[in-house]
Amino acid sequence: MASSKPWVDGPFKLVPPSASGDTKEKPVEGARKLAAEMSIAHNCLLRGANAIYLQCVNVAANGTPKDKVDFANFAHQWTEMVQDHHNLEENNVFPQINDLTQVPNLMDENVEEHRLFHEGFDALVAYLDKVKAAEEELSGDKVRSILDEFMPTLQVHLTNEIGTLVRLEVYNDKVDWVKWFNELLSKTTTECMKDVGYRQRMLPLAFLFHDKTYQDGIWGNFPPVPWLVKVVLKWMYLNKHADWWRFAGCDLDSARRDLPFV
Ligand SMILES: [Fe+2]
Repeated sequence: MASSKPWVDGPFKLVPPSASGDTKEKPVEGARKLAAEMSIAHNCLLRGANAIYLQCVNVAANGTPKDKVDFANFAHQWTEMVQDHHNLEENNVFPQINDLTQVPNLMDENVEEHRLFHEGFDALVAYLDKVKAAEEELSGDKVRSILDEFMPTLQVHLTNEIGTLVRLEVYNDKVDWVKWFNELLSKTTTECMKDVGYRQRMLPLAFLFHDKTYQDGIWGNFPPVPWLVKVVLKWMYLNKHADWWRFAGCDLDSARRDLPFV
């Protein structure tokens, strides 16, 4: 991408591969691999927040009524992705880590951090609901001020959690972290994929918020979907809400593109 316009790698900083120690030459293993995979997911959340932050003012000032409603739906889907991520952690990932390590409350600190940005996050959801229902006009300043309130805390949390996962490497001889995590993800994804709404409204974000060229393409193989399956998914579900997805920093092939409203 030749453009020098602001892009979704800021203003809220992404989690670098150095946080887990992952490199292209020497991929990490064990708990560090778990931390690297979590970094990929967290960066998706951060790129989504950045797309909203960077474009909300111009969509509100220069967009058509349809642009504004599409943008509110786009931003709302991002909030659902954040909520889903934290629900999965609180209900499955963290309790299972506590069990596997036999250290009760080991992950409590991370759950506590979820509470810290809850209020601001809920305010954004409530506001976007009103814009979607045409009860309020989209205000870029309002969206930015809500994001300014909770995003720095969420960004710190998304970075801190990687450190917590890296520290699980002291249990590498006791737990096969990669096997456990892949099984958990596969079970969860199989369940989610039964829902057509998930396929149309949530799954696309894993592609649209991932940059396969990030840091020399270190995580270019994410998400691990066979190409034929991807073709079918794209054709049947992923593009259903293309009008919402135009605000994302990447396309459905996780290739970078300019943001339309910066
Ligand atoms: Fe996480």
